[in-house]
Parts: sequence; C-alpha cells; structure tokens
Amino acid sequence: MPLVSMRQLLDEAAKGGYGVGAFNVNDMEQIQAIMMAAKETKSPVIVQASRGARQFAEDLYLFKLIQAAAELNPEIPIAMHQDHGNSFETCKSAIELGYTSVMMDGSLKEDGKTPSTFDENVAVTKKVVDYAHERGVTVEGEIGVLGGVEDSGLEHITDPDQAVEFAERTGVDALAIAIGTSHGAYKFNKKPDGSVLKMDVLIAIHKRLPNTHLVMHGSSSVPKDLQDIVNKYGGKLKETWGVPVEEIQLGIRNGVRKVNVDTDNRLAITGAIRKVLWETPEKFDPRDYMKPAREAMKKVVALRMTQFGQASHASDYSPIPITEIAKGYKDGTLTTHPLVAAK
Ligand code: G3H
Ligand code: 13P
Ligand code: ZN
Repeated sequence: MPLVSMRQLLDEAAKGGYGVGAFNVNDMEQIQAIMMAAKETKSPVIVQASRGARQFAEDLYLFKLIQAAAELNPEIPIAMHQDHGNSFETCKSAIELGYTSVMMDGSLKEDGKTPSTFDENVAVTKKVVDYAHERGVTVEGEIGVLGGVEDSGLEHITDPDQAVEFAERTGVDALAIAIGTSHGAYKFNKKPDGSVLKMDVLIAIHKRLPNTHLVMHGSSSVPKDLQDIVNKYGGKLKETWGVPVEEIQLGIRNGVRKVNVDTDNRLAITGAIRKVLWETPEKFDPRDYMKPAREAMKKVVALRMTQFGQASHASDYSPIPITEIAKGYKDGTLTTHPLVAAK
C-alpha cells in the first residue's frame, strides 16, 4: 500500500471515534517495532520523524525504511509525518522526499525555542498549507506553546478563541494545542490533576471546533514499570509522572485524533538494552540487545494502539491516492474551513 494521507487517516478516525498514535522513529528497529505492533493489532498508523531524527538517520535512509515498511505491510495504512517542522523549508523538504504529512510548528520561531507572535504563526502555517495541499499533503499546525504549566506558565496554554481564529485563517487539517503537557520524561511531579493538565481547555476548544482534528503532544504516560526497569539496571531516572492514559482517552472522546508518543518508547528500549548489558556483560553482539529492545517498544506501541482505539481499524478503508487528495483540496470536497460553534 502506498503511504496514505494523514488527513484521510484522521478523517476515518473521527468517523470511528478513535485516536491514532503518532510514534517517533530514528532507526530501522523503531520502524519495525511499530509495524510489528500495527500488524498484530491491525492498526492504521502514523510514523513521524523529528528534524533531529531526519538528521540522525539521514533523510534518505529513513524514508527508504518507511517505504520498505509500506511495501512489507500492504494491509496497513501508514502516514509518514514530519514532526515539529520549524520552517517552510523544513516542511517543503519533507514533502519533496515523499512525506504525506507535515507539522508546521509556528508556535515557536525558527530556532524552535522562542515563542512567535500569533500573526507570524498564522503566516508561516498558511504558507505551508497552500504548498502542501496543492500536493495532497496534510498539515498539522500548533497554537499555544508546549511545556508544563509549571515551566512556562498559564499564558502559553491555548486560548480557545485563538484556536478558532487560527483554524479559520490557516485551513490546517489538524491542530495541536497546548494543555500543560511537555516533551520528555519529566512532565509532572505527581499524578497530574486539572490544575496542571488542562483537559477543560481541550474540551472547550473541541466545543468551539467540533470537526477539527485535535492533536495532543507530549502524550507519553511515562509508566512506573518502565522507569523501574531502567533504574533497576543502572539507570538514574528521577521519579516522574506522564499523561495518564485515561486522560488521553477523555481527549479522544473530545476530538483528539492524533496522540504523539516518543518518550515511552525510548524508556522501553533503554530499559531492555540496560537489562541485557547488566545481566550478561560478556555480550557484545548488538542483536543481543536490539532484539529485546525492539520487542519492548513493540509491546508499548501495541498497548497504546489498543488503548487509543485504532486497533482493528486497518482494513476499514482503502487509501485515496495523494493526487486525488490534492484534487479534493482544490475542489473543496476536502474542506479546510472549520465548522465553528457559537460560544
Ligand atoms: O518532539 C519531540 C520528539 O520526542 C522528538 O524528539 O527532537 O529529540 O527527536 P527529538
Ligand atoms: P513525549 O515526549 O511525551 O513522548 O511526546 C512526544 C511528542 O510530542 C512528539 O512530538
Ligand atoms: Zn511534540
């Protein structure tokens, strides 16, 4: 099966009322782990690469690996997505390679650190939308700035009115919002409640934009059992909490269609490798630890696929060729005008 438009994948998820995990990859084993999980659970899947991943793996290696995954698993719809594109150029280069979806994260300036203004964000995102849609490629935008409430303050939490204006002015296919989550293992210093994880804001945004596909970043749950394995075998993780799966499921009932997960897989891989090296220090064949590492990631991904509800939906639909998707954007069959509900 050729790579699928992420818009199609998310439209189908909305119809079915489920969420789709978007898992980060940097190498062959991570791609294999995702495909093993997708095959086992019969799930459509979003594979995503950050700018760092594209640099680490070299673009072509990574992209050819994804193509191999698609060729070897013709029954699984796969969307290939650029995670956190920082500029028009980054998104354009992903599209030229053959990615079927890009995130233009215009919430930050091109340095990926400094918050941008609302108008800067709208301008760069709209530019990417125009370029991408002409080619049938999906665009995710972001409004509000990620980072926990405690790190970056409430002013970075997405304002529902701004979310509406952003969706209307840019025509994005999917909208990432900031509700107090952050990337990495250290999100919360206790199980998060409504004062730090703003599910009420997510629900308010969904009420105003009932048909917009919402995206939750920083959605690793950082499970204690994975932390414990890392620490048991010589790791030094401090106690920490992620986003509880039940909160993600609440999000999915309120318009979340794409759920970004990277850290949980990193923990699973690291724990498995540490265990082998700790227990059998005489081993030096990378396959001795990469195989359990791949298996550990597969287990996490398969569990998330089941929890997010995408399991068993792989064969609900056939992929629409990207050229047809491009026509759909042009003739308006694929709407880019969000439905906006009154306050
Ligand atoms: O955006 C966050 C993802 O976890 C990717 O992280 O930029 O270190 O590859 P990275
Ligand atoms: P985690 O660090 O919580 O896995 O988030 C990943 C992410 O949002 C990638 O864009
Ligand atoms: Zn992210």
